[in-house]
Parts: sequence; structure tokens; C-alpha cells
Amino acid sequence: MSTPLAIIVHGGAWYIPAEEQESHKAGCREAAVAGFEVLRRGGSALDAVEEAVVCMEDDPTFDAGVGAHLNQDGVVQLDAGIMDGSTYQVGAVAAIERVQNPICVARHLLTSEHNMIVGAGATIYAQACGVPLCNPEDLVIEREHNRWLEYKERGEPPSETVFTGSSVKGTVGAVAIDRAGDIAAGTSTGGTPFKPEGRVGDSPLPGCGYYADNALAGVSVTGHGESIIRVQLARSAADFCAKLQAPAAAEAAMHMLSDRVAGKGGLILIDRAGRVGYAYNSSEMARAFMVERMDEPQVEI
Ligand code: GLY
Repeated sequence: MSTPLAIIVHGGAWYIPAEEQESHKAGCREAAVAGFEVLRRGGSALDAVEEAVVCMEDDPTFDAGVGAHLNQDGVVQLDAGIMDGSTYQVGAVAAIERVQNPICVARHLLTSEHNMIVGAGATIYAQACGVPLCNPEDLVIEREHNRWLEYKERGEPPSETVFTGSSVKGTVGAVAIDRAGDIAAGTSTGGTPFKPEGRVGDSPLPGCGYYADNALAGVSVTGHGESIIRVQLARSAADFCAKLQAPAAAEAAMHMLSDRVAGKGGLILIDRAGRVGYAYNSSEMARAFMVERMDEPQVEI
């Protein structure tokens, strides 16, 4: 049986000021087009998700790869995870340094003996896999250096409050379904601004920041990691797809995040029939999706 192709990407659920909305839309559009092209050429959902996430890690608009938020030590530490809905295999890295594309390291781990590697070990693993390393400063852009100076002066804000703060950047993620009906999901982030060294949010944790199960759905999540972890948002959203179609499942999961832990954020998903859904309770969430009958992705904030 041949399944209709679909991809959806997000560039974070936060406050995105008007003057930054075009760059967020452009980045999401480019990622959706690149990922869909992989699917159209017969690539797997995993290939498409990796490609789309790499696009957004390479785009300094987002809080992932180059342009990510700095931690309290002024260092970029990145988290990423990817899951294959046909095998339940997971690959993830956390607090990795000196790598612009942690999703590629996560992809290597997916077929390894281990699910997750953190810190210095993750950088060593990346090098062993042939994922290019960079200098730590290559990931730092002026906007984020200035933000770090500001936070250093003022101290770390409560993490919930950064959602309404001035132009904090967003986690990125993608979900895709390929011709074979295989679903994949992946998420990548620099985490919250001025986070303590080693702080890890939801993004690299399967079931929290992403989840994929061919029998249910693929999900990628963005938002306040500490709240998202408490309700295992990605897995919960996938479970809602047992009874609900993608749009309703996304809304139900977001209600759960709001009602149970007063969390802020958003999610994208594709259910087993290839239907696309998304929901968020922040003021904005950058996203784009493309399904087989479309010539261009639908891009929204
Ligand atoms: N959702 C990204 C983070 O909290 O790190």
C-alpha cells in the first residue's frame, strides 16, 4: 500500500515579534520544501526529518545549531533527538558542544547500541561518526552574545517568563510520513537562554520532545521543557491519535499541557493516515507543512 507523503516543521512556540516573523516563515518554508523534496525523490521519513532539521539548525533565526542561546557560561550546548516510528529506535544527544548539526549525531545513534549520549562523550561520538566539529565560537552570533551580556547583568529569568520576553528564539522540529507509511519525528534546540551548564529540557527526551509510532503518529514539541517533561507531551499527543484525528489530537494534548501543569508551548504531528495537526498556547508558533496535493508549503505563524 502506498501512503500519501506529508511533512510538517516548526520553528518554535514563543513570542515572535512582528519584525522577526518573515525570517521565521522563510526558515520554516525552506525546511518544509527541502524535507518534502527528500520524500518526493523516494527518501525515507527519517531522511526527510533529518534534512528539514539540518536546514533550521543552519539558519541563525532559530534556537538550534548556529544562533542558539548561550548558557550561563556563555557556551552553546545543544540537545536533539530523532525517532523511527517503524522500529521504535531512538537517537539523542544532550548538552553537546562544537557540533552545528546535533540531529545528525542523533541520527547516527539511532542505529547504534545506545539511545542517548550527553556532554563531552557526545562530541567524541560525533567525531567518531564523521559529523563535522566546529569551534565553539562558530555557533555564537552577535544577537545571542548581546542577549547573554544582558542576562549576565540581570541574572537568569524564571524559565516560564521567557515565553513572553523579547524575541526569545524557538526550538525546531519536523515530522514526516513516507511512501511506505513510516513516520519519523525529530527535534533540536539550544534550550532556554542563560540556562545553567548541563541543563536539559524536553527536546532530546523521547516521549517528551518528540515521538514516533507508525500505529499512531509522529510528534515534535516546542516550548517550556520543564513543563513538557512532566506530562510527556509528545507521547501523550501520539496516544490521543488512537481515537482522534491529527488536528483534534494536537488540541487535546495542548489542553493537557495547559490544564495539568500550566505549561506553555506547542506541537506538530502527523497521524498514521498522513493527516497533519498542530496546536500551541503561546502567542505564536512558526510552522510550515506540505502534503502531496500541494505545490507550495502552507506557512503560518
Ligand atoms: N523546549 C526546549 C527546552 O525547553 O529546552
